[in-house]
Amino acid sequence: MKASSLLSVIFFLSFNTLIYNADPEGELKLVLAIFRHGDRAPIGIYPKDDNGKDKWPLGLGQLTQKGHQDAYDLGKFFWTRYGKQLKLKQVYKANSPELHIRSTSINRAKQSALYFLAGFYNLVIDKAEELISPDHIPFTPESQDQLLSMTSCPKEEELRRNYLTTSKKFKKFNGNNDMKMLFQTISRMAGYRDDPVDMGKFGKIADAVYCELKHNMPQPDVIKQNLDILMEWFNTSRRYYGPSTPEIIRIKTGPLVSKMVQSIENKVTDPDSRDKLFLYSAHDTNVISLLSGLGCFNDIQPPYSSAVILELRKVEAMYYIHVLYRNDSSVDPYPFSVPGCGDENKKCALSDFKRAMNKVMMSVTEREKICVPIIKSKALSLSDNVIPITIAVVLLVCLVLSIIMYRIYKRPRKPRGDPMMYRPLAYGDDDDEDV
Ligand SMILES: *[C@@H]1O[C@H](CO)[C@@H](O)[C@H](O)[C@H]1NC(C)=O
Ligand SMILES: *[C@@H]1O[C@H](CO)[C@@H](O)[C@H](O)[C@H]1NC(C)=O
Repeated sequence: MKASSLLSVIFFLSFNTLIYNADPEGELKLVLAIFRHGDRAPIGIYPKDDNGKDKWPLGLGQLTQKGHQDAYDLGKFFWTRYGKQLKLKQVYKANSPELHIRSTSINRAKQSALYFLAGFYNLVIDKAEELISPDHIPFTPESQDQLLSMTSCPKEEELRRNYLTTSKKFKKFNGNNDMKMLFQTISRMAGYRDDPVDMGKFGKIADAVYCELKHNMPQPDVIKQNLDILMEWFNTSRRYYGPSTPEIIRIKTGPLVSKMVQSIENKVTDPDSRDKLFLYSAHDTNVISLLSGLGCFNDIQPPYSSAVILELRKVEAMYYIHVLYRNDSSVDPYPFSVPGCGDENKKCALSDFKRAMNKVMMSVTEREKICVPIIKSKALSLSDNVIPITIAVVLLVCLVLSIIMYRIYKRPRKPRGDPMMYRPLAYGDDDDEDV
């Protein structure tokens, strides 16, 4: 072989390596992701549940052992996919300036964040809770959490109720006599006596069945015989958090989308900033809402530990957003295209992404304005009739007081509302409905 051809072979090989090393998708600058917690125990078991509480040694509503592993594996996946690309060190340090993690206030989400970190930094799983302090998982108390809140705001509740009564998906269940009978039969079997059936309790039965089946626990005959319809109802009731209406989606996920877009913009303005990963540990409803906000929800309840991933990439001087959905650990994450922003062949340019997200974005203060005044008195949202009744009671009290005053002072007085009468009602310790 002549020296010149040898040279050209070497040149060819090294050129090839160069090409190979340059990521055709562009240089990865920032990764943002929200994920659902791992496998969990039911929120509660029903009175006559033969699969007792003791089947869930880590507690009801908590992650199971498998849940720890799910979150750990997700962390591992993130390290494998992004650790080197983002030039991170695989050494756990609390409150890293490069990796920002946040959880909802719910324990299973906090635990999932903790096990995620353990997997990401390759710590021994059994030592995770020793090596990582739960204090290092930041969260905002539920009632103040505008970013990942699950107890929906009363305005949102009202919109959802309206949506439920008009949605086609619910026609099948609403006002259907066979379904009513079935709800009643199952609810009696479970040991409840409410008439009509308390759908809140019914949701918890379905939830227990869902969790127990994932752990191959036996089910009563009436459940086995009606499993498909029961799970379809359960799927639908979860799903109504999803592609409901643009207004509901905005309230539920707008502040998070705004925060994500802000983090992306900060990185673009200051490429040398240390931000590399933003992670949010949350629930299926958060994942569904973000996917819906992105216009990408596939109408399937997100499995445990599924993650929506946003990658900020740079090709020459242009920035692009890649949206990925990791809902199955046995395959690569699915690339999703955001409507109005790229498609399978065209990349989603950051400017287009921001334009597409404009209709979803909402500032924290705007959400506060929509939700907080009533959040403080949650009981008021129990029924639409509560407000008129409260006003009537207040007026009645004023009237009685003024009569007493009149009798005491023997002269007429105008009844006046006392602001102290509107004592803020305690914010209840709501048992979360989200899974
Ligand atoms: C409910 O959703 C799960 C995915 O979360 C799916 O596997 C199952 O087939 C659905 N069941 C029904 C009856 O729709
Ligand atoms: C994951 O998402 C893809 C894309 O929407 C879908 O085809 C697939 O069925 C989903 N898998 C699971 C387990 O939810």
